[in-house]
Amino acid sequence: DTSGIPHRPGRLPVIGDLIGANPRTPLQDTVRIGKRLGPIFTRKVFGFEIVLVGGVDLVTELNDETKFGKHVGLGVENLRALGGDGLFTAHTHEPNWRLAHDILQPAFSAEAMRRYHPIMLDVARELVAAWDAASGPVDVSADMTRLTLETIGRAGFGYRFGSFERPEPHPFVTAMIRALRYAQLQNVKLPFVRRAFAGTPEQNRADIAVMTDLVDEVIAERRGSGEESRDLLGLMLTEGHPMTGERLDPVNIRNQAITFVVAGHETTSGALSFALYYLTRHPELLAKARAEVDAVWGGREPAFADVAKLRYVRRVLDEAMRLWPTAPGYSREAREDVVLGGKYRMRKGDWVVVPLPLVHRDPAAWGDDPEAFDPDRFEPAAVRKRPAQAYKPFGTGERACIGRQFALHEAVLALGVVLQRYDFDIDPAYELKIVESLTLKPSGFTLRPRVRLRTS
Ligand code: HEM
Repeated sequence: DTSGIPHRPGRLPVIGDLIGANPRTPLQDTVRIGKRLGPIFTRKVFGFEIVLVGGVDLVTELNDETKFGKHVGLGVENLRALGGDGLFTAHTHEPNWRLAHDILQPAFSAEAMRRYHPIMLDVARELVAAWDAASGPVDVSADMTRLTLETIGRAGFGYRFGSFERPEPHPFVTAMIRALRYAQLQNVKLPFVRRAFAGTPEQNRADIAVMTDLVDEVIAERRGSGEESRDLLGLMLTEGHPMTGERLDPVNIRNQAITFVVAGHETTSGALSFALYYLTRHPELLAKARAEVDAVWGGREPAFADVAKLRYVRRVLDEAMRLWPTAPGYSREAREDVVLGGKYRMRKGDWVVVPLPLVHRDPAAWGDDPEAFDPDRFEPAAVRKRPAQAYKPFGTGERACIGRQFALHEAVLALGVVLQRYDFDIDPAYELKIVESLTLKPSGFTLRPRVRLRTS
């Protein structure tokens, strides 16, 4: 029963709260509306009502794993057309979730990060080569997507997308972006609106085929080569479960491969782009971050252990992901009948959406100027004063992001490398514009990099 939960005034029959809503920016609309309506509210679009919870106190309850778990719903259920029972889209009760989680965990250990470091550094060198050669402004989100796609391709699968050699995105990326949009828009119930924004089912089938064909090719090549590697693909093809010895089946391996390429690059790319956006708009913070890189790395390229030493650069990324968590939400489902916040009755199986940009702006946890970009919010003393559940860019509980350490090592490394090497001319007229697909990214954000320091 959602009758006691606030929603926007003027809700209409059939189309609901659609006035003023834009199918291209559902998340940004939600943030705007949620800031006015408070910690819990509903939105109704085309007969489809969802409850959204952005207040830290209520989210703290929702994140209690004994009472709630991940809900695969709304956008995520539709993504099963791409990811099947891969880790991100699997229901927790599907046996393949636990099996794959346990088999793949070693691919995200500290030891594994040490193996990925030289690969990540190599890709950062390719970004540097591209930016050194650029004669004008570069599209930051596009280049960060090249970097992160190349990194997950090589570190996870030994596959080169060749992103920096291509003027346009790799066909996998074009297909992926369209397929993600198609999946997301399946929730829009009016066919003509859906078709206008999502494209045709034929196009969608072709896009999914582009993705599965590439993944099948990479898997076949690895199987054929007899090469042994402890990257993601190597673990999936050769390892059994640590306790039972059970192996992943070929269909699941394909699902995981697509899942990891998608989950493993869009989000990290957006985080890097937002971080560069905020730094270049706050020269004093950029100077502070760069001073740290110069002090800790000197004029050298970073060794593995040098990356985690960039504490301030890490805080810049944390703060960028506070304002714009690039995976902007998750859903929670009641394991039993519960009363949320002592007030809202939920039956077993009922679910709500947690829009992270609202959690990350709740004044109760973040003070009265939550829109201000301030990396010092992540100084240890400040973090200790905040409720533990106030910051959740990597999700929560057993279904939280398995790639967190991978993303953070990659992002701190790449941000360190570009701050060390470049000064930036900005376009002063640019105003932050955010594109929404499954993830968030700045759109049309360019910088002109000028070499300030050549590394040895
Ligand atoms: C899950 C965020 C990078 C792989 C998640 C979830 C979030 C998230 C919020 C939970 C979603 C939910 O509860 O429905 C991010 C962010 C990243 C990032 C913000 C970068 C800044 C990565 C990378 C990889 C990855 C680099 C792989 C190399 C996954 C997978 C899951 C996941 C496989 C599903 C885990 C499971 O349910 O068992 N991520 N992620 N992510 N992420 Fe990430």
